[in-house]
Amino acid sequence: MKIIIDNEENIARRAAQRYVELLREKPDAILGGATGSTPLGLYAELARLCKAGEISFARARSFNLDEYVGLDGSHDQSYRYFMNENLFKHIDIDLANTRVPDGINTAIAAEYDREIEAAGGIDLQLLGIGVDGHIGFNEPGTPWDSVTHVVELTENTREVNSRFFASLDEVPTHAVTMGIKTVMNARSIILMAIGKSKAEIVRAFIQGPVTTEVPASILQLHPAVEVYLDPEAAALL
Ligand code: GLP
Repeated sequence: MKIIIDNEENIARRAAQRYVELLREKPDAILGGATGSTPLGLYAELARLCKAGEISFARARSFNLDEYVGLDGSHDQSYRYFMNENLFKHIDIDLANTRVPDGINTAIAAEYDREIEAAGGIDLQLLGIGVDGHIGFNEPGTPWDSVTHVVELTENTREVNSRFFASLDEVPTHAVTMGIKTVMNARSIILMAIGKSKAEIVRAFIQGPVTTEVPASILQLHPAVEVYLDPEAAALL
């Protein structure tokens, strides 16, 4: 695992350079997308680079990590909406080449893994991390061999994420997420974490035991992971 510690602006810039390199080498790369507040700086930087002509997503495809169950893409808290507004609208990717798990027809969840495989597998998966160590919506206790599946969100996660909704009651109780195995199948992974609320879990997933109680700890076993941290998130390392 490679650890990069720098201020928030610089980690966004440095992570964006990984996309520049990848897409220069492989213009039709398969990207794994993430939501949450953490990737916003990176997405803004990718949009800037695209407008400046330094990167093109014209031939790229993307598969997002997760989606809330019950929200369709027009809901402003759906992850499809988030991706359209915060990234896809601002870059030259073809929207038809972007995928987000289906939060309405959840019966087809596991087909997502087959689609990823048919596309050739994810070249670069982006991850944030929940304060409980979740990646995507794989909460503590998720088996390592899980593929894309429906999960019940923990009360803690619903509370943390309620900041984006009018009230806690409006936060969906379930989500559909790539599984741990789906994530681990990616050829390379970037995990970003910002702020002191992440310091403890950052220490646990990097320096603690590999345990399903800390889903992100499995990344210790992946051969190509880069972790981008601001000094606050890295404070307990
Ligand atoms: C959500 C998402 C995760 C994300 C996490 C952290 O629960 N499902 O993919 O990593 O929140 O969000 P933030 O970056 O806002 O701290």
